[in-house]
Amino acid sequence: MCGIVGYAGHEQAAPILLDGLEKLEYRGYDSAGVCIGDGGALRVAKAKGRLAHLSELIDGGRSLQGTIGIGHTRWATHGAPSDENSHPHIADSGKIAVVHNGIIENYLKLKEWLVGLGKRFHSETDTEVVANLIEHFYDEGFDFRMSVRKAVERIEGSYALGIMCRDYPDTLIAVKKDSPLIFGFGDGCNYIASDVPAILKYTREVCYLDDGDMVMFTASDAHFFNGAGDPVEKRPEHITWDTSAAEKGGYAHFMLKEIHEQPKAIRDTLSPRMKDGRVVLDDIRLTPEYLKSLSRVYVVACGSAYYVGVQSKYIIEKLCQLPVEPVLASEFRYADPVLGADTLVLIISQSGETADTLAALREAKARGARTLAIVNVVGSSIAKLADDVIYTWAGPEIAVATTKAYSTQLAVVDLLALYFAQCLGTLPQARYDQLYGELQQLPAKVERLLTEEVISRIQYDASRFFNNRDVFYIGRNLDSATCLEGSLKLKEIAYIHSEAYAAGELKHGPISLIEDGTLVVAIATNPALFDKTMSNVKEVKARGAEVLGLTTERFADEIAKSVDSAILTPETDPLFQPNLSIVPLQCFAYYVALMRGCDVDKPRNLAKSVTVE
Ligand code: AGP
Repeated sequence: MCGIVGYAGHEQAAPILLDGLEKLEYRGYDSAGVCIGDGGALRVAKAKGRLAHLSELIDGGRSLQGTIGIGHTRWATHGAPSDENSHPHIADSGKIAVVHNGIIENYLKLKEWLVGLGKRFHSETDTEVVANLIEHFYDEGFDFRMSVRKAVERIEGSYALGIMCRDYPDTLIAVKKDSPLIFGFGDGCNYIASDVPAILKYTREVCYLDDGDMVMFTASDAHFFNGAGDPVEKRPEHITWDTSAAEKGGYAHFMLKEIHEQPKAIRDTLSPRMKDGRVVLDDIRLTPEYLKSLSRVYVVACGSAYYVGVQSKYIIEKLCQLPVEPVLASEFRYADPVLGADTLVLIISQSGETADTLAALREAKARGARTLAIVNVVGSSIAKLADDVIYTWAGPEIAVATTKAYSTQLAVVDLLALYFAQCLGTLPQARYDQLYGELQQLPAKVERLLTEEVISRIQYDASRFFNNRDVFYIGRNLDSATCLEGSLKLKEIAYIHSEAYAAGELKHGPISLIEDGTLVVAIATNPALFDKTMSNVKEVKARGAEVLGLTTERFADEIAKSVDSAILTPETDPLFQPNLSIVPLQCFAYYVALMRGCDVDKPRNLAKSVTVE
């Protein structure tokens, strides 16, 4: 969601801001803008549509001279995507410019109050209220910093703000609460950004601002303050990953690159935690005594991360005999959940910034539950707040549709299940050793799914089915959880209506929707349930469906008797089969989207990191 970049230095600011915003395009946006400080003037250029359009309007930044500025990509919340609603917003008297990520919940009340004081508004956004509120305090005689502080004391909601003041031509202020913001320490210059890739080309020394933090900076210095307004020291953290990790590296899309990075991402996530036949989770402090005291685990997350939670129910319950309840974060926070010292709340998030997930984490902590987070972004809000964190070492994920983050989250769930079983003594040694061995082989098996041969088979299937209007994904047990993620991939990037159903549920309603040519993707990887799923395949075929099957190599001949086309995966334990099944489904969605001419990395209406409720 909205991306922010700010720069104070000695180079021309506009090209640096455009470059940074381009690196944040993955977050999702529908308009873009910059404000450049030029002596006493604040010059704004902003426009609805793609960043390339803005860049064209200002000749790649060359037509806006100045060495300080703020830039923004907006994902519309209050007011439609339009030139007027784009950021930056300038306060009524032109003294303050603001870019904002988040939602000002009490903006209507504040707007009414400011209008009563004579302030005029030119957009429908909540952000313009912030600009005018700061200007109001500034006009009352407070200096720039105090005006910002007084304004943020009055606003409710979430914000990362980049702010300029006409009378402080060398200075930027940034402040944040519940929306991500980092500060970058440059050489003779300084930066702010919503995420590391935006400034990684310029500096590797960054610090993650905490909620309530404010930074006031120029090209040569930076002063940090906490929520109480007291000065605080911030130490730079060195970013070790390379800019190439945030670039396409020869692939047509980030999504394709990230699909292909999965074997390495899973290996990096698993191998440091598997030593001498045991799962070693040095990063967390859950003792066997604590685990034995648990009566339930809630798994709380959104979107694909929630689907990992659905998988985790099958895996952890089976291996640990511990009840697991997956809950959508947006529901959990308002559901009055019964939590206590005997409940572990497992939070899953790639970005570590998802607003609903973060709020659910706070709720869980407030209700006395212990929290464990599986997070990809180091230093993110969820990683900081949870009692314990296990990082997925997937590296930066840029494509809006998650692939390698999902796979590594699932790998961590497998690890956790084995770890819990090890602590609880719920598995015979031979079974534990067998699963441990299977887990070790996963990265190599995922690699086998990404060979030319398998990919061209999937491309062929995509070319056969890309025109379907409705798709059903069906499967049983863990396969039904895989259906959820496979179906979401197709929806989000190929814009095809698709639904995921537990195969046994079909005849309780949705089978009425099956007609000639409806595509059904049937996943049947569990030997114990293969025949049952094939019966469901027969039912949909009898009603005219075309069926794309997905099973393991050993069922190649069997499945060929029932489906129109089949994708085969290597064998592993049925509990780990979802780690393999998802890969061809990601590829299928990718190639279908490509054939439909969709913008794969930046699907319409979606944002990578959903930082509003
Ligand atoms: C999946 O492809 C999504 N784009 C989306 O469902 C995502 O998984 C969800 O928004 C949660 O994000 P998080 O993992 O960053 O919390």
